[in-house]
Amino acid sequence: MTDRELMECAQAARSRSYSPYSHFRVGAALLTADGKVYTGCNIENAAFSATVCAERTAIFKAVSAGERNFAALAIVGGREGETAEFCAPCGVCRQVIAEFCPKQFKILLGNTERFRAYTLEELLPLSFSESDL
Ligand code: THU
Repeated sequence: MTDRELMECAQAARSRSYSPYSHFRVGAALLTADGKVYTGCNIENAAFSATVCAERTAIFKAVSAGERNFAALAIVGGREGETAEFCAPCGVCRQVIAEFCPKQFKILLGNTERFRAYTLEELLPLSFSESDL
């Protein structure tokens, strides 16, 4: 699976976003170490705080299926009706990624045409983790 193909999986997941309140549509695709892909989209709720981001949907799907080893995460997001340009993961999602992924974990941000790879450490420096407890 190439980085671009993983971005395309995230883009496809974005099309399934349930975001009638924000009209901001996000898709994520999580690649496991053995090559499987778990996708997620943001799922909003009339009680706004019950909303779940695309990244956490993908991670929770994967972990609940028994996966623990991940290779990369692609994220595609943007306003409804517009081409996704760049969507950075929210702080809560960064923390959830850090629970399961190492500092050098690859996170792809952008769209299917243009994207850039970041490490988790770049997006969440000085993170709090299990080793701090
Ligand atoms: N959203 C995500 O799905 N991922 C992020 O990292 C940023 C925000 C969603 C949550 C909400 O449904 C909408 O985008 C606007 O915040």
